[in-house]
Amino acid sequence: MKTISLIAAGAIACSFAANAADIPVYLDDSKPLEQRVEDALGRMTTEEKIAIIHAQSKFGSPGVKRLGIPEVWTDDGPHGVRPEVLWDEWEQAGWTNDSCVAFPALTCLAATWNPEMSYLYGKSLGEEARYRNKQVLLGPGVNIYRTPLNGRNFEYMGEDPYLASIMVVPYVNGLQDQGVAACVKHYALNNQEINRHTTNVTIDDRTLYEIYLPAFKAAVDGGAWTIMGAYNLMGDQHLCHNDRMLNKILKDEWGFDGVVISDWGGTHDTEQAITNGLDLEFGSWTNGLSNGASNAYDNYYMAQPYLRLIKEGKVGTKELDDKARRVLRLIMRTSMDRNRPWGSMLTPEHYAAARQIGDEGIVLLKNQNSVLPIASSAKKILVVGENAVKMMTVGGGSSSLKVQRELSPLDGIRAAAPAGAQVEWVRGYVGDIGGEYNGVTTGQDLSESRSASELIAEAVEKAKDADYVIFIGGLNKASHQDCEDSDRFGLELPYDQDAVINALAKANKNLVVVNVSGNAVAMPWVKEVPAIVQAWFLGSEAGNSIADVLYGKVNPSGKLPMTFPASLKDVGAHNFGEIAYPGVARNDGSNILDETYSEGIYVGYRWADKKKTAPIFPFGHGLSYTTFDYGKITADRKDMTADDTITFTIPVTNTGSVAGQEIVQLYITDPKCTVDRPVKELKGFAKVSLAPGETKDVKISVDKSALSYFDADTHAWVAEPGEFRAHAAASAGDIRSTAKFTLK
Ligand code: BGC
Repeated sequence: MKTISLIAAGAIACSFAANAADIPVYLDDSKPLEQRVEDALGRMTTEEKIAIIHAQSKFGSPGVKRLGIPEVWTDDGPHGVRPEVLWDEWEQAGWTNDSCVAFPALTCLAATWNPEMSYLYGKSLGEEARYRNKQVLLGPGVNIYRTPLNGRNFEYMGEDPYLASIMVVPYVNGLQDQGVAACVKHYALNNQEINRHTTNVTIDDRTLYEIYLPAFKAAVDGGAWTIMGAYNLMGDQHLCHNDRMLNKILKDEWGFDGVVISDWGGTHDTEQAITNGLDLEFGSWTNGLSNGASNAYDNYYMAQPYLRLIKEGKVGTKELDDKARRVLRLIMRTSMDRNRPWGSMLTPEHYAAARQIGDEGIVLLKNQNSVLPIASSAKKILVVGENAVKMMTVGGGSSSLKVQRELSPLDGIRAAAPAGAQVEWVRGYVGDIGGEYNGVTTGQDLSESRSASELIAEAVEKAKDADYVIFIGGLNKASHQDCEDSDRFGLELPYDQDAVINALAKANKNLVVVNVSGNAVAMPWVKEVPAIVQAWFLGSEAGNSIADVLYGKVNPSGKLPMTFPASLKDVGAHNFGEIAYPGVARNDGSNILDETYSEGIYVGYRWADKKKTAPIFPFGHGLSYTTFDYGKITADRKDMTADDTITFTIPVTNTGSVAGQEIVQLYITDPKCTVDRPVKELKGFAKVSLAPGETKDVKISVDKSALSYFDADTHAWVAEPGEFRAHAAASAGDIRSTAKFTLK
């Protein structure tokens, strides 16, 4: 049998080689991409072009069967590859080979401040997606963290446009190096979940360009093959077909040659979809779908309704060709690239990557009296809190996953505890006992019949004679927590966790609070609790990463990608009434709400600096088990011109007794300018590893882009000559030294 098949394979290869000259251009990958795209386009009928620009199932669109051009399969995104759902529905298809490795949430990735982690993330996720034969992975998300109430902040990369811009590109490249397109979402101004389909955002151009667009532009400049429009509106047009944002900015200004994919159900109008920049329509909620008609996809805005307009001569085919061309380009870049790798899933390397990213992203917020790491002599460890055991990969909306395995924090701690140590868990509080999303169930029974006071009394009693008490709480993936389609009600921890923490702080001086969330939370007990750890949603290896840090196997090196404000009043967006958040209903018979980003560019630490608020923990904050000394920052020149770069040197020394990594931040101040400017802005950073006693010179270069503001009148970036300051800082709240320089 084997010999026969070898001969057969050889025969096919020979005949293929003999007829190489007859291969149509679009199938010949020795030909340039654009030539192949044009060739394919030229062979297609209008109907075939219409077919490839809208879905034929929940996550797939057809290729061109007649020409051997494959289908496009998309999938969420952004933390792992979502399980297969039914053709027309969100419910599970029931496959048994579609579980995945869950990687840490993107807030955690941003908290590593390490572009290498970002590439590792994209590569590992891309391998899983490729193996599952997905052409588009619906991620990463880079909407700016405007308010800590946004239910989807955990899927994004924090509050700072520079940090998000640096971190998004390697993720995109890592993914696309596997032949899987990134889909950068949700472009743009989708900064809240409440009323996400009906909020019309008004924003000034300077704020748009300085705060909300840079990370998207970086991803586009970095080569992203697709981008997803947002649900909400800007300038009274939905962002999935928005002339200004998609045609003028994304395609004309930035030269994006990829595919604009609608968010699922984000398309609302055929004519706008045709002319305003949408290329590929998914998830539309046609009557056909809800009524289960077999031709539901034909009723999509860019399906029969579009074809009819063409046939009636009401619209031409110029836009159609452009959309089809973009989709063909996507297919050639992915499934028609014969050289792309094969991918792999559930490999030890993927688990190792998830753990490493988690290890690097966990942030040690406070560590009074060096309570952490847990002493190896500790015999009695009491773990308290629902999040110590609750699976966090199920729920939260479209990023929900079906994992092969997920190690809970409690199990991670148990595995890491030295022989002879006793690790006990008590509930402490009841949060969300649900464990199901779209038919994926955790299988956990978290039901509880005892009262809140009984649970607290039990925890306090056991805490009294423990060597360490580790409270693991925070938010979860239920509605109004860290979850799509709803926002949080407030900054406070839910389920009265503050009462549990306060009681534990009185019972044991070795209390560690581990906050599992994708958002800042209020910490009224911050002074009473000696050690606080921000642990994010860490995916499959959650337990191992948390234990690595708690036991000191890993020296924490993450820093916050967002400010932890003391109260909502300290957040720009929450200072201008409902018009700034969550929006005001128009009352004109439409369902639209108006919202103005009244705080302008003053988002996150920019607001905290301007108003001189005292956050509980500032942007960029994070401690280590060692300490770092910063020497004086120096510049390689005193004056620079608009064509130069200037390089700053910051000597950093590890002054403690263990090796560690420090994230050195460079902020720029323009003290005198004709426009109002933030007190300082992040324009560079470097993560550096230092052995005990070691000193390294950290070098960070900037050019005039780091000195510029966006001038809306001239629609240009402007760096005004004059004096600037560069600050070497350990966080936005901890400037270590400053250098002055002049732009001539
Ligand atoms: C979300 C997207 C997601 C899509 C497909 C939408 O509800 O907003 O982020 O990719 O669903 O699941």
